[in-house]
Amino acid sequence: MKQDKLFSIEGQVVLMTGGAGVLASAISRGLGEAGATIILTDIAPLEERLSQLTQAGIKAEGYYMDAMDKKSVEEVAKRVKEEFGGIDALLNAAGGNMKGATTSSEVSFFDLPLEPLQKVVMLNLFGGAIIPSQVFARLMIESGRGGNIINFSSMNAFRPLTRIVGYSAAKAAVSNFTQWLAVHLAKEYDPKIRVNALAPGFFITNQNRFLLTKEEGGLTPRGEAVINHTPLGRFGVPEDLIGTVIWLLSPASSFVTGVVVPVDGGFNAFSGV
Ligand SMILES: NC(=O)c1ccc[n+]([C@@H]2O[C@H](COP(=O)([O-])OP(=O)(O)OC[C@H]3O[C@@H](n4cnc5c(N)ncnc54)[C@H](O)[C@@H]3O)[C@@H](O)[C@H]2O)c1
Repeated sequence: MKQDKLFSIEGQVVLMTGGAGVLASAISRGLGEAGATIILTDIAPLEERLSQLTQAGIKAEGYYMDAMDKKSVEEVAKRVKEEFGGIDALLNAAGGNMKGATTSSEVSFFDLPLEPLQKVVMLNLFGGAIIPSQVFARLMIESGRGGNIINFSSMNAFRPLTRIVGYSAAKAAVSNFTQWLAVHLAKEYDPKIRVNALAPGFFITNQNRFLLTKEEGGLTPRGEAVINHTPLGRFGVPEDLIGTVIWLLSPASSFVTGVVVPVDGGFNAFSGV
């Protein structure tokens, strides 16, 4: 392969769940600028995100899709098949922590209600990985054109972070599922389908703002601990993820499947000493 095509994703059709989210927005823009057609899906409104993409000259489409509802996902898959003939990549960006599934000085682990714990696992493992993979991997197999699935894991999948018990368990399961699905699809169906995951470090977004920053400004002790534990000395910005995603979708990573790639400023490598 010529070097200039090694990282090419030109012409790929990339579908993102959680497409209205902060990380998905930066990634979809980056992939679109690299020549991909973008399909955003979410339960949140997508108009603003879509117009940002189309104004930048990016081919983009959007659909309401509840990633936790298989019927809703199948409905979108049907429409995508009719309109685009299939997809080349699925980016499972729907997910996030929930305050109710977090221990605090007010709510101890022993009193954590089961419902938010179940919800956070449902969102991140089932909606965030399993259900869309069931539907869209089938589409990839049927189309015969191969493809890539990228799940969104987290630092707390490697070692759990304090307080966020449900989210930690869910993301550890997402990493495990990534490996499982990579093996299953390659061995049972099509070795041209690869499955990998990103493990973003600390990016300030809606799900963690309340844990990392104070309302009156500045960092919480937890936010400070994160920065002190990140050798590169800063929080991530969503654009930090674009290059890794392009690598994972391009021929440059054609022998890479079943890995969870930390994009974390070195957080995961640092023992703290
Ligand atoms: N921000 C971080 O620091 C960080 C770190 C590690 C991992 N992650 C993971 O990356 C992914 C994206 O995170 P983000 O920070 O951009 O979060 P975000 O909250 O900005 O975006 C998540 C999106 O998912 C959508 N969503 C929620 N439930 C849904 C459902 N049932 N069906 C479809 N869409 C649904 C939301 O509407 C939202 O637009 C998540 O899986 C998150 O857990 C984020």
